[in-house]
Amino acid sequence: MSDKPAVLVTRKLPAAVEARLKRDYAPRFNDDDHVFGSDELVERAAGAFAILPCHSEHFTAEVTGRLPDSVKAICNFSVGVDHVDLAAAKDRGIIVTNTPDVLSDATAEVAMLLMLGAARRASEGDRLVRSGGWKLWSPAFMVGTQITGKRFGVVGMGRVGQVTARRAHGFGMEVHYHNRRRLPPESEAGAAFHERLEELLPLCDVLSLHCPATPETTGLLNAERIALLPDGAIVVNTARGALIDDDALIAALESGKLAAAGLDVFNGEPDIDPRYREVENAFLLPHIGSATRETRDAMGFRALDNLDAIVAGREPGDRVA
Ligand code: 8YV
Repeated sequence: MSDKPAVLVTRKLPAAVEARLKRDYAPRFNDDDHVFGSDELVERAAGAFAILPCHSEHFTAEVTGRLPDSVKAICNFSVGVDHVDLAAAKDRGIIVTNTPDVLSDATAEVAMLLMLGAARRASEGDRLVRSGGWKLWSPAFMVGTQITGKRFGVVGMGRVGQVTARRAHGFGMEVHYHNRRRLPPESEAGAAFHERLEELLPLCDVLSLHCPATPETTGLLNAERIALLPDGAIVVNTARGALIDDDALIAALESGKLAAAGLDVFNGEPDIDPRYREVENAFLLPHIGSATRETRDAMGFRALDNLDAIVAGREPGDRVA
């Protein structure tokens, strides 16, 4: 038996991250990368000092309560921690960490991709070319929305929100934001602060969501708030599906209230509301915000830096509980 701490690694991680795990720990890998149900998660954690999960594993209060006493840390391979009941972990004396900063650039890139893809009808165009349905060209054909000079609204000006705001500025957009607190001027980088979400919404030609999913933000973008957006606005979501009321968003896309939406995250993903598949003006991606080689490595190393600190009895850099 190894004298190194056992670590349950729930999903397939980059080779360099797995190599570091093998060097420093006794890792238990999930070779076929299937998603553990709660019973399997608890069973596989037997004797493990730590779990290194993704957002695909759900540590509800019930599951956390059943984790073996050996488990002292949950070092997430994610910045979002809505899949972990932090209060329940705290009650069990389990330290929880996340991986902030390292995925901000990659996620902001996908927010720009979604904005442009939605505004310029990219998936519609792609489908037309592939299906052989593209028969003629005309000046009236596939006309979309130009984003240069338009107003870009950010909800949640954390790390990802700030990087995304700077990218939008680079496209010549005027940036506005709503956040729990106003940022210092150097972090605002010229963006205009709105204390109330309801003040921000009427200004948003593009609305981009960047706040965490919490009980307070669940269903944040509902029918009343969509009604406050300008007609023809575009909604972008790289944060969490829970922020959106799907009935309201789908109705607004179908009625033309919204010109388009670009979505990388969904309620219940990957079993998304099937109506999205039929909505022509939605540009859809399968939760790939942080899926670049560089960022995946950086997320793994950041999770391991946190684990190393905990094992050494130090305070981890990214403790959330
Ligand atoms: C990750 C994310 O790919 O880090 C997050 O919160 O949403 C994603 O970009 C995923 O969560 C990895 O577990």
